[in-house]
Amino acid sequence: MKKTILITGWTGYIGSHAVVAFEQAGYTTVIVDNLSNSSEQVLSKIGKILGYIPDFHKADICDTKALDEVFSKHGFDGVIHFAGLKAVGESCEKPFLYYGNNILGSINLFEAMVRYKVRRIVFSSSATVYSSDNTLPLTESSKLGTTNPYGTSKLVIENVLQDLSLHASLQALPLRYFNPIGAHPSGHIGEKPNGVPNNLLPYILDVALWKREKVRVFWDDYPTIDGTGVRDYIDVNDLVDAHIAAYRKLEEISGDTNGSFTPVNIGTGRGTSVLEMIRMTEEATGKKVAFEKVGRRSWDLAEVYAWVDFAKEFLGWESEKTVKEGIESGWKFISGV
Ligand code: NAD
Ligand code: UD1
Repeated sequence: MKKTILITGWTGYIGSHAVVAFEQAGYTTVIVDNLSNSSEQVLSKIGKILGYIPDFHKADICDTKALDEVFSKHGFDGVIHFAGLKAVGESCEKPFLYYGNNILGSINLFEAMVRYKVRRIVFSSSATVYSSDNTLPLTESSKLGTTNPYGTSKLVIENVLQDLSLHASLQALPLRYFNPIGAHPSGHIGEKPNGVPNNLLPYILDVALWKREKVRVFWDDYPTIDGTGVRDYIDVNDLVDAHIAAYRKLEEISGDTNGSFTPVNIGTGRGTSVLEMIRMTEEATGKKVAFEKVGRRSWDLAEVYAWVDFAKEFLGWESEKTVKEGIESGWKFISGV
């Protein structure tokens, strides 16, 4: 029989790709989102890819009654938890919004899981849980530490999951994403943030589309290849495959009555600079991408990339797509070409 899993935050960028991937991998998904950073239109796009629309609940994970209704209707095998706010700058301006939405919302979700005896969870964590005081590449045992409320919300949620693995038998697999880019090959779903994009590639693509005048490069003459920030850009299609590999790993250890907590880096192990991203986008789109040099953001780091051997060893997963492919699929989605 098909297993039913709950996907929170599914109308969002990564969650929408995950719904498609899990449905295509043979799972039944039940999906929950409050549409705070997404739109119900994603439903019809997912419908175009799958040929049907999964069971959708408009619900807020901060609403315990709504969560209880969802859990009481379905016998979940496990949860893939994407729901959350993700803008670092906004989190510095509105820390309590982030603590409330991300941390309290997650605690409500975990409380419902424990009450309904659902033990498996894959959680969207982030490379932001690593301290800036580390040598590269970042490994799962690199020093932890955060500098902004968004990052703190991710680290606190990881800590809560670790407690619950010890004291409520949860089997938790936090995936620490590096920088997701790209879109579904169909061009139907991709990254479409409400308002001005915070992340680099959506902003660059908007400039290539003439929707914005120039990219503001947060430049600080870093000791990198060209003085701009270097990041590990992971294709969203590879990223959702990592979730399937993680969920299968949890199924493998299901006979175990003990809980578990195993964070895993999800990246490519390679870094790309902001100027390289701009140049690759120009090549992929044939459009000029204007940019200007502005100062760094308070939380920016010079260089961040992952050590990926543990993901290979533990999940049997590794990234396959190139940054160029991520830019091309992102462009197909955003431009409709
Ligand atoms: P997104 O904003 O596109 O998707 C998040 C979804 O969660 C949105 O659809 C939003 O409406 C929903 N949501 C927010 N709060 C909710 C609540 N209280 N109840 C129900 N739904 C709620 O973001 P994304 O890029 O798809 O990211 C998904 C997850 O991955 C997030 O937890 C994010 O922090 C994490 N993450 C993202 C990145 C990245 O760069 N995109 C990197 C590392 C980690
Ligand atoms: C940050 C968070 C990460 C979070 C992600 C999503 C940290 C250390 N990292 O990643 O955990 O998941 O945001 O919101 O907190 N850049 C520009 N101009 C722009 C936008 C970005 O030059 O308009 C540069 C940045 O300085 C950086 C690179 O592009 O060097 C990538 O930036 P961004 O996409 O915002 O991701 P991070 O800052 O790496």
